[in-house]
Amino acid sequence: MTGEAPEAAVEGQGESRPDPLGQVFSLADFEPLAEALMDRAAFDYIAGGSGAEITLRENVDAFRRRRLRPRVLVDVTEIDLSTDVLGTRVALPVGVAPMAFQHFAHTDAEAAMARGAAGAGALFCLSTMSSLPLEQVAFAADAAADGPLATHPRWFQLYVHRDRGLSRDLVARAEAAGYTAIVLTVDLPVAGYRESDMRNGLAYPERFGNFDAGPTGGRPITEVIAGFNDRGLTWEDVAWLRGVTALPVVVKGVMTGEDAVRAVIHGAAAVWVSNHGGRQLDPVHATIDVLTEIVDVVEGRVEVYLDSGVRRAPDVVMALAMGARMVFVGRPFYFALGVGGEAGVRRAFELLTAELGITMALLGAPSIGRLRRRMVEP
Ligand SMILES: Cc1cc2nc3c(=O)[nH]c(=O)nc-3n(C[C@H](O)[C@H](O)[C@H](O)COP(=O)(O)O)c2cc1C
Repeated sequence: MTGEAPEAAVEGQGESRPDPLGQVFSLADFEPLAEALMDRAAFDYIAGGSGAEITLRENVDAFRRRRLRPRVLVDVTEIDLSTDVLGTRVALPVGVAPMAFQHFAHTDAEAAMARGAAGAGALFCLSTMSSLPLEQVAFAADAAADGPLATHPRWFQLYVHRDRGLSRDLVARAEAAGYTAIVLTVDLPVAGYRESDMRNGLAYPERFGNFDAGPTGGRPITEVIAGFNDRGLTWEDVAWLRGVTALPVVVKGVMTGEDAVRAVIHGAAAVWVSNHGGRQLDPVHATIDVLTEIVDVVEGRVEVYLDSGVRRAPDVVMALAMGARMVFVGRPFYFALGVGGEAGVRRAFELLTAELGITMALLGAPSIGRLRRRMVEP
């Protein structure tokens, strides 16, 4: 754990420490700084993948293999990065993916992450396994944002507990606290085979944000996930979830056209293409390599989102051009939180926004609506 946000040089104390955020010029720059600041086990938990980590690497490499096809002599005086997601306007087509236990990175945990996202007018998704209660995170985000909730929407990610009552209560609390969609994660009936966590003996925290962990504190992380998540979850349970909430249900962790069609049939409001950042089944394809298949079978009936391996603005632009409505980023925001707390997350959004503006201008696409599939070559 890193404690407070890093100090800039302190006057009169002889030695001055440079502000680490001044050394960061791309999302990738946060990782080595975070590694130097964090506990080994916490860093490995965040950075690592599952199995042979083929998917972890492939997620990033698959973007690098693609090339953009720019259009020239397009008026790019104004670049508009805003978009609509489930009927809400957001300032950016990039949101923060749900990630567990953010106290591993910073004492202000998800409150700092949500404030950073709210400051950028970006969408933030809170994990079931958050370190802080969902109400506290909602309150922090509202206090940080200048405008109404519509300018900084938040979603709640759900892992369905064996005890359905517990999950129903969580969903009701999220709805009451102003979360505007429930993201049902479907790619984790059991935790992936994560060797670094085994090697480091990573233990579950004593305290969870959203519920009493009971006797789980201190036990190995995979063992506790096995005791938490309902392995018996099926497509019928999407109907159960729709029955207990008025909020739209987004299905996260879809990797095939077949399952995308099922999600639509079962009333999902959106399909979130994800391989959990290479932390679950390994090896599977990079998400960007299955995006077209999924966008094509969905035929615009619901929105499609993508995460896993997005590290730079061109990655975002490629996913959008290929039909994703929204892109989510995981680890780089976690590391930004570790390096600078809320200021780190704000810096990450600033960098991404700047790089996106330049990329869109050079591509000849002054708004998200001007992106076309033919602007990306496999
Ligand atoms: C440390 C960590 C914790 C995560 N916890 C959750 C979680 O609680 N719920 C969930 O749906 N996804 C979780 N994810 C997956 C992310 O939502 C997202 O799919 C993934 O991080 C995207 O890949 P990227 O890190 O390469 O951007 C987690 C990812 C990381 C790195």
